[in-house]
Amino acid sequence: MNRIQQAEEALKKAGKKVNRRYRMGYHMMPRANWINDPNGLIQYKGEYHVFYQHHPYDENWGPMHWGHLKSKDLIHWEHLPVALAPGDEFDESGCFSGSAVEYNGDLALIYTGHNMIDEEKDDFYQTQNIAVSKDGIVFEKLKENPVIAEPPEDSARHFRDPKVWKHRENWYMVVGNSSKENVGRVILYRSPNFVDWEYVGVLAQSDGNLGFMWECPDFFELDGKHILLISPQGIEADGESYQNLYQTGYLIGDYDEETNEFVHGSFKELDHGHDFYAVQTLLDDKGRRIAIGWMDMWESEMPTKADGWCGALTLPRELTLKDGHKILMNPVEETKLLRGSEHHECDNQSISGSYFIKTAEKLLEVVAVFDLTICSAETVGLKIRGIEQEETTIKYSLIDQKLTLDCSKSGKARDGVRNVRLEADEKLTLHLFLDRSSIEVFANHGEATMTSRIYPKEGRAGIELFSEKGNVRVEEFTYWTLKDIWKGDEAK
Ligand code: FRU
Repeated sequence: MNRIQQAEEALKKAGKKVNRRYRMGYHMMPRANWINDPNGLIQYKGEYHVFYQHHPYDENWGPMHWGHLKSKDLIHWEHLPVALAPGDEFDESGCFSGSAVEYNGDLALIYTGHNMIDEEKDDFYQTQNIAVSKDGIVFEKLKENPVIAEPPEDSARHFRDPKVWKHRENWYMVVGNSSKENVGRVILYRSPNFVDWEYVGVLAQSDGNLGFMWECPDFFELDGKHILLISPQGIEADGESYQNLYQTGYLIGDYDEETNEFVHGSFKELDHGHDFYAVQTLLDDKGRRIAIGWMDMWESEMPTKADGWCGALTLPRELTLKDGHKILMNPVEETKLLRGSEHHECDNQSISGSYFIKTAEKLLEVVAVFDLTICSAETVGLKIRGIEQEETTIKYSLIDQKLTLDCSKSGKARDGVRNVRLEADEKLTLHLFLDRSSIEVFANHGEATMTSRIYPKEGRAGIELFSEKGNVRVEEFTYWTLKDIWKGDEAK
């Protein structure tokens, strides 16, 4: 049996033991066992492919494989066989994160080979490699691997997560890296033929405050600007910023391809919830820049390990640029395909205190529009998935202009609260997506987003609208029950 078949057998067995209590209804997740970063996002021959870091043999991280999902509409996903398994001389200990491109009509994956030298001393080296597929399912690693055997001389050993694209005659690759002095940075390579890569130089690096290693870079144009997405490790928490162990964020700037100069502004976090990391993007045939992140965080509590699986990916989100200086993130339009029945409550009514909406549904989309010009309350918001002993709260303070996601009563007791500044003057629109173990908040059409995993006990349902210390006019409150895209699959 080859390594892919072995992994498939293991997943089949493990899949039978998975406990459903926190299984996602419409998010990407593994059949069983561990996943982390999304990899190789691409629209290939009209279909969307999402690969991901995967350990098919255990609910904990281990030798990385690439799992594989495919969809025609970004909503209904189908599991395909494991695409990459480690164990060759250039990827002995893992096939780490990377990207995908169409190359001569084939689907090509560019990934990092992780090679352990001494596990106890955490001594390793990392290489960049390519695997190609004619049918988009079975991948063959190139005999030329590694296509980049080592990082530049002034580099530390962290050298991973290649993102590749084509521009005019050449291929380009950004790689996450750390300098000899342990400064996080992104370096750039160029290739005329996709196999021979020449080091171009450093594209951007930490000014000393942005960590020791920049993971999972992505570099693209958005509305006339260049965006460098990065997931830095080692940024110190600062007030309400950088609260997670690691962050994902972006630099906006202008890029001169002649000189390789990227002149950019300061680092901004992309999402302010607990569980959002290692984001990657693709450009689709409608011209949309679509981002997907890992919906968990390293070293956080992950209760689904006890259920035989661990890790999920966010909804696909469209990125747009606001006034040239801020990225807005909103769920792709196709999420509407998930909608079942539509319900309206207290539209154009004023509420004071709390207004309870009884529903036993756990898969929900919610839109709440508060009119802040007809509001005497200091705080307005929503509670979901059980009230009081157990609940998840999203609230907006008109006084502090702050949006808060409080998950401390929903399985994140240690570190449950996240805040983000939001200047909502006239209206506050909260657009939520609830799954069995996640919440995604899009506030004021992507001005702020907060993404977290939640782990309510069985039977916790319901929504409460509330205002504190006064009343507020609710312009709209709509919720939809959402479809469970995995339902048939789970029965198999
Ligand atoms: C980011 C990351 C990547 C690496 C992968 C390993 O979460 O650490 O840098 O390639 O995960 O699974």
